[in-house]
Amino acid sequence: MYASDQQRILFDLSKKLLDGTLVEADPARRIDDLQQVLRFHEWKYYVQNDPVVSDFEYDQLYKQLEALEAAHPDLITPDSPTQRVGKDLTGNFAQVAHLTPMLSLDNSYNADDLNDFDEQVKKLCKLDKESEVAYCVEPKYDGGTIALVYENDRLVRAATRGNGAVGDEITANIRTLRSVPLQAGFSKSGIYKAELRGEALIRKDIFDRINKSRQDAGDQVFANPRNAATGGLRMKDPKETSERGLEAFLYQLGYAVDAEGQNIIERFHTHDESIHLLESLGFKTPLAKTNEQQHLPATKTCKNIAEVIDFCLQWQDYRDEYPYELDGMVVKVNDITLQERCGFTSHHPRWAIAFKFKARQATTKLRDVEFQVGKTGAVTPVAKLEPVHLAGVTVQNVSLHNEEFIRSKDLRIGDQVLVERAGDVIPYIVKSLPELRDGSEVPVQYPKNCPVCQSVLVKPEDEAVWRCENAECEAQVLQRMIFHTSKHAMDIEGFGESTIERFYKLGWLHSIADMYRLDYDAIAQLDGFGEKSATKLREAIDKAKQNPIYRLLHSLSIHHLGQKGSKLIAAEIEHVLDLKDWDLEKYQTIKDVGPVLAKNVFYFFQNEHNVELLQTMEQCGVNLHQTDADKRPDAPTEGPLLGRSILFTGTLSQMTREEAEKLAVAAGATLASGVSKHLSILVVGEKAGSKLKKAQALETVEIWTEEEFLKVLSPES
Ligand code: IVH
Repeated sequence: MYASDQQRILFDLSKKLLDGTLVEADPARRIDDLQQVLRFHEWKYYVQNDPVVSDFEYDQLYKQLEALEAAHPDLITPDSPTQRVGKDLTGNFAQVAHLTPMLSLDNSYNADDLNDFDEQVKKLCKLDKESEVAYCVEPKYDGGTIALVYENDRLVRAATRGNGAVGDEITANIRTLRSVPLQAGFSKSGIYKAELRGEALIRKDIFDRINKSRQDAGDQVFANPRNAATGGLRMKDPKETSERGLEAFLYQLGYAVDAEGQNIIERFHTHDESIHLLESLGFKTPLAKTNEQQHLPATKTCKNIAEVIDFCLQWQDYRDEYPYELDGMVVKVNDITLQERCGFTSHHPRWAIAFKFKARQATTKLRDVEFQVGKTGAVTPVAKLEPVHLAGVTVQNVSLHNEEFIRSKDLRIGDQVLVERAGDVIPYIVKSLPELRDGSEVPVQYPKNCPVCQSVLVKPEDEAVWRCENAECEAQVLQRMIFHTSKHAMDIEGFGESTIERFYKLGWLHSIADMYRLDYDAIAQLDGFGEKSATKLREAIDKAKQNPIYRLLHSLSIHHLGQKGSKLIAAEIEHVLDLKDWDLEKYQTIKDVGPVLAKNVFYFFQNEHNVELLQTMEQCGVNLHQTDADKRPDAPTEGPLLGRSILFTGTLSQMTREEAEKLAVAAGATLASGVSKHLSILVVGEKAGSKLKKAQALETVEIWTEEEFLKVLSPES
């Protein structure tokens, strides 16, 4: 993609742009420079996995470009690195026809299957039995399949596989993936229009992080990286796609025509030649090195089927060390002319086959089933297994979801059960093995009463789970407290599960209100605490008292009320207890609040206990009033002007008032309507009048020139 001297030039240019030594007054040229260096760093970081500048430096360059483009909107081009995240999708996804059908693959499971495939290929190609066919072998990525169309060197369309003929148009979402170049030099190879096939994936460690934070937020976790990836591709808001950590690997040049519309696929004599072309154009392909440790190449051109078998078996053992989830390898005839001789069935190409890895399964004994009560009262059965080693982890506790799951699998305590972690990260029980029973096994008894508070369990008609409806149930109270302080709720540092359990056992916590009236002297006396830790905890709790009310709403563990719903509601109220006067219909006037959520929040605020709880919290100093952050739920949470209010006066020379305001808001500021003691900064342009005088008289307002304002936004330029 970039020759080494070119890399050096772009690196030097980056440094000059960062330290301000580049004297380039023409904004168009400077924008072009910034775009070039940012594209280069995106490629180094997201495709090569080998960055040459720090994240901070990248961000600084990005901000410089953003600021310049905001000041010169006419110079923004659609393939600028700042233009990756576009607007929300309003309707449904448009349907688009693929340029050639996207077929499936036939499967093989062992060496015999692969030898049969090789024989079949030779027959189709009319080669004699002793001849050797070369194959390309590459990972079978387990994510969401995508098709990208480039025309005239620009990414013009991206789609999901759909039914193979027609897919969903997801261009705006794919543009947010920084491993996907928005422009690529196809025309240098005579290609005017091309369709590339590939897979959008989430690295396993990023997936774990996403799930962990969803769990903390009380959101449902993804079963596996594939679900997280395919879901990520189909978000209505490209910003959400961009936050999913997706990457795209491209493994097939499906279609290529020149400017006259002539098919030129055969110009690439072999599959590996076309993959090398994609790599050289800046795409992430199976040739990419994914981490330092990867000692087995992800793709290999094998001279015969024996080498193919060898390579596939090596990967079967190696796959857990690879940073992405794979479910096998794909074997492709390398020579394009031979591929054409093989042809297709309606389902798959006859020149390619998937080699599926063995599912990762083990048998172990089901020792017991425990029933756990969650924060909203759902009772979940959990299998307690004899510990068993499976694909790198020890499996001991496995969720059994609900009663129906146990019944349908006829699970009995004492059974040998088959546990699997196929593509899935979360292990699950596939089945019991009744043929191994000796008669001592006992069916699982589903409790009629809550295992903690003994109240009768109920099963709402439209749900699969049994619930404990006693909101005062100890288990629920404890789980709610644990959730209340968690990162996505009130975010109280140092007040986690073990401390809460300890205080609870000491009888200090009966409800979440008690968390705000703790006796810090008593805490300081506890083993392992002391003055310092007690003070730290008090400071963290005092800080949380000032949280915006959307955090408080979320922290109440109202069934189905996540962070998003909490923000939507918080934006509509002045005080949390306004909600006790809301009727059901009023909730439904809020866009995106559905009937189930409306019902749950409505009943929560109809319950006197809950209202009293909130009143007590308010008496303890917890904020129940709408804050600025609640009024603007999508406002940035960081930026050099975060939390400061700003006002512009006079004529600005480098940008319009609107542009300046946009920049200020993006940097975290709020816009003030006039000069008052609440104003933090007044930016003065030429011919400033009374506002300047008033601000000077107030003395609390900082007065900045336009240059000073710009400097704060991109301190290095
Ligand atoms: S080649 C016509 N190569 O597997 C060629 N497919 O079961 C067909 N897949 O949905 C595709 N990794 O998206 C090919 N290296 C790879 C692949 C791959 C994953 C997916 C593909 C398709 C499915 C077929």
